[in-house]
Amino acid sequence: MRLVPAHPASTDDTGHNPVTGEPHAAGGTPLAIDLSLEDLEREARHVIGEMAYAYYAGGAEDERLLEENVTAWAHWQLHPKVLAGISAVDLGTTLLGTAVSSPVAIAPTAIQGLAHVDGEVATARGAAARGALMVLSSLATCSLEEVAAGAPGAPRWMQVYILRDRARTVDLAQRAAAHGYGALVLTVDAPVAGLRLRELRGGVHLPHDLALPNLAGDSTESAHEGGFMAVVTREFEPALTPDDIGWLAGLTSLPVVVKGVQRADDAVRCVDAGAAALVVSNHGARQLSDAPPTADILCEVVDAVAGRAEVYVDGGLRRAPDVVKALALGARAVLVGRPSLWALAAGGADGVASLLQWYESELRRTMALCGAATVSQLERSLVRRAPGWSLDHGT
Ligand code: FNR
Ligand code: LAC
Repeated sequence: MRLVPAHPASTDDTGHNPVTGEPHAAGGTPLAIDLSLEDLEREARHVIGEMAYAYYAGGAEDERLLEENVTAWAHWQLHPKVLAGISAVDLGTTLLGTAVSSPVAIAPTAIQGLAHVDGEVATARGAAARGALMVLSSLATCSLEEVAAGAPGAPRWMQVYILRDRARTVDLAQRAAAHGYGALVLTVDAPVAGLRLRELRGGVHLPHDLALPNLAGDSTESAHEGGFMAVVTREFEPALTPDDIGWLAGLTSLPVVVKGVQRADDAVRCVDAGAAALVVSNHGARQLSDAPPTADILCEVVDAVAGRAEVYVDGGLRRAPDVVKALALGARAVLVGRPSLWALAAGGADGVASLLQWYESELRRTMALCGAATVSQLERSLVRRAPGWSLDHGT
């Protein structure tokens, strides 16, 4: 794999092609950033070993949704405009008022200490180098305070599970607010753990040199003994309702983002209950296995929300053209999970920055080819259902 050294976003003004953001070669020819996510995953697997790989790569049950999350983006085609007069592409946007340099954010993924000795601090530094948003998992192996100190001033949000012992969730929310996290991302798709067979069969557990400093209580011990599915089952509140969105929002002044919404009616209930934004997500195919891929349900959620909240999406976003489809369908941002873990394992903070730079460069190219100079110009007319895929809303 070739990971091109990452350049800070601020240097893009000099020596770079303004459309693609690529560095110019000596002769003035723009270089493509050559990155294969398959090679990156292979390299990461080699570095982290089979137990960590089973945890990161696995999905629920027979894993059919894992593949579908990736392939379903091909249910849409890009339908480009020409003669759009574009000499530069700007990827900048805001997410709940947080300025970011690109609409590609880092999804919250647990236990990054299995990928790299610096864990979530390295991911945060990589994201900060590109001006991208990172969402920190509450099952992180670094404390939220360490992550904040490791990338001061960078855009970051805190993912939260509501625990049966609510005092611990109160504590987590207040610590996040006190350390510069800009939103609480409440994950609602894990009332119980999905059946992660790779995790069970691979004996996945938290090694004794790692801990879960954000959850406190018995979580670290549970994870050492019974693995992560045990933490979900023993500690997460299974009986959440929309009232819990208001409860979480009342703990701090931070906006609440609800992650794991898959239906139009649920989206409306969440927004009515006070959600400032939603993430259309099936938890990277790790929870309910026979759910639809997110590419197929994004539209109906966007339409139901009707601009009352921001909508983001994750699941299988491995290519810039698919990111452009998601944005054109109405997502304000996308989150990437596993690719960021592979980049962290293979290259630490630099690896994460290089991965984000690759998405940026390919996004600029794709947007220029579509006739869109800014992310706000990505609208529905730029996507079409691919032949053979109807636009019914699955009801
Ligand atoms: C996750 N995800 C997740 N989500 C969350 O809200 N809290 C968490 O702690 C975790 N942990 C986690 C661990 C691992 C190893 C993976 C792969 C995923 C889900 C994550 O935020 C996101 O929804 C998916 O990863 C997106 O799909 P892709 O990009 O991995 O296909
Ligand atoms: C996971 C949980 C911990 O997906 O969110 O592994």
